[in-house]
Amino acid sequence: MTVLFVNACVRGDESRTLKLCREYLARFDGVEDVEEVDLAALGLSPFSAEMVASRSEKQLACDWDDPVFALSRQFAAADDIVIGAPYWDLSFPAALKVYIEHVSVCELAFHYTEDARCEGLCKARRLTYITTCGGFVEGANFGYEYFCGIARMFGIPEVRFVAAEGLDVVGIDVEAQMDKAREAMRKLD
Ligand SMILES: Cc1cc2nc3c(=O)[nH]c(=O)nc-3n(C[C@H](O)[C@H](O)[C@H](O)COP(=O)(O)O)c2cc1C
Repeated sequence: MTVLFVNACVRGDESRTLKLCREYLARFDGVEDVEEVDLAALGLSPFSAEMVASRSEKQLACDWDDPVFALSRQFAAADDIVIGAPYWDLSFPAALKVYIEHVSVCELAFHYTEDARCEGLCKARRLTYITTCGGFVEGANFGYEYFCGIARMFGIPEVRFVAAEGLDVVGIDVEAQMDKAREAMRKLD
């Protein structure tokens, strides 16, 4: 089984979200293969008109071995997906949206049926979204909601959510907030 960790924790070693993700991922040590996509290191570009045109040509030619499809193929083939993303501006860092532009390829991540229904082609049985927030978001995490939509589109049946909230609130016990998220992670199978 392959677990794909999409690391959108832009602050690297300083990131509390990354800390939670590493703790969650430790359950797979020596048990499953974990592949990591480090978005800060990857530095992907958003799709321009030229990039869209070039990729469309390759899609029409079914040139699926082209490197432009590598991230999509990797995502579609993973058995389990973990997204680590801090809460930025009501959702997540832009690098994660850019990554989804690279992943979201018709005929790899999803396709359209003859009766024009969008049907997912991704193999993953679940997607776990891990985040930390400066304030108390209380259910208004558009980043998580976006990934619920993406999971539906890509055919991933289960989406799970873990958040440590209020980490930037003055005087708050940050470790106590992190511990609540750790407890939620422990309860996940
Ligand atoms: C660019 C940026 C945007 C942010 N936007 C929000 C926000 O809209 N709401 C909020 O509660 N916290 C916001 N924060 C605070 C982060 O959610 C919080 O510090 C989080 O724990 C950062 O995660 P990290 O330690 O993994 O980098 C923002 C932080 C940054 C750097």
